[in-house]
Amino acid sequence: MDKSVRLFVAAYAFSEDGATHFLLPGREVKLEGAEEVLPILLRQCDGYRMAEEIVSLTAEETGYAQAELWELVEQLLARQVLIGSTQHYLFFHRVSANPMPFSHQFSEEEIARMLAEGESFLMQSSLQPTTSLEKLLARRESTREFTGEFLSQQEAERLAWAIYGKTPRANSFPESAIGLGTVPSGGALYPLRLFVLKPSNKEREWECFRAGSEGLEKTVTTTYEALVRVFLNDSNLLEGVGAVYVLACEFQQTTQKYANRGYRYAILEAGHAAQNAYLWCVEQGLGVVEVGGFYDEELAQLLSLSYPDQAPLTTLLVGRRKQ
Ligand SMILES: Cc1cc2nc3c(=O)[nH]c(=O)nc-3n(C[C@H](O)[C@H](O)[C@H](O)COP(=O)(O)O)c2cc1C
Repeated sequence: MDKSVRLFVAAYAFSEDGATHFLLPGREVKLEGAEEVLPILLRQCDGYRMAEEIVSLTAEETGYAQAELWELVEQLLARQVLIGSTQHYLFFHRVSANPMPFSHQFSEEEIARMLAEGESFLMQSSLQPTTSLEKLLARRESTREFTGEFLSQQEAERLAWAIYGKTPRANSFPESAIGLGTVPSGGALYPLRLFVLKPSNKEREWECFRAGSEGLEKTVTTTYEALVRVFLNDSNLLEGVGAVYVLACEFQQTTQKYANRGYRYAILEAGHAAQNAYLWCVEQGLGVVEVGGFYDEELAQLLSLSYPDQAPLTTLLVGRRKQ
């Protein structure tokens, strides 16, 4: 293992029946035979000290052999009691993934009250949109009723471009820093990956495409039923939808530079891309709704992503709107 990894304890621990029990979200990890050394080892894992230093300090204090301690550290990392501090975002990701252990329903009245509390000039309807962009923004809305008509391949590709189109980076600097694409990206790292799922000509079969160098490249096929399951078994949601766009992230592409903060940047970037989809769809008279209600791991599997290092962040359901 990488001895320079900075270790962080992700779990609360207690001793019972001669074993150490660690509490993690939704599970308990039990470890036997290390009660003596664990408190000394874990005390040093503050997210800043390197594994190398932690093992050597613990060996000094306890008299344990370093090889034994490395084995213990590896075991704790594998069971996610310890986290490499630059990998902490994977922990945030896990605790924000569906199924959520709890959520709360608000009534329309409660939401209206909350919004009224934060009232500002931004809520005034007297501001008249005048430019074409302002007019598009004023008409932006989510659609949840679709006709079932397909999107043409050309429409699907143009929308993909609007969502996450990029220009090739020049090798000559500083020109390469100009106009890199339809969304801004922290450090110009562009860690998102765009997938499109569309119904095929076969009954209840859907095809998956990846936005690749040659356009939308077909990857796998799936079924309508599998997709419904991914969207929390909500069969109404996909009715009449012409295409599902998925924005996934290759986290390393941003976290290798920004560490855990890169996770925040990736989510922000997905928001920019999603807004582009809304604006393009209003302009084209198509309907769209962003849907964050999906089972993360199942959707990743369906797209053949290696979860959680690669994970879907958000989805956009697109189609022709029912009048
Ligand atoms: C991050 C995010 C997640 C969302 N997830 C869902 C969802 O799971 N299901 C849904 O029906 N709408 C979802 N929406 C759409 C919101 O419900 C919608 O934007 C909101 O009600 C405001 O309506 P409008 O977009 O028509 O103005 C989501 C929107 C965002 C930004």
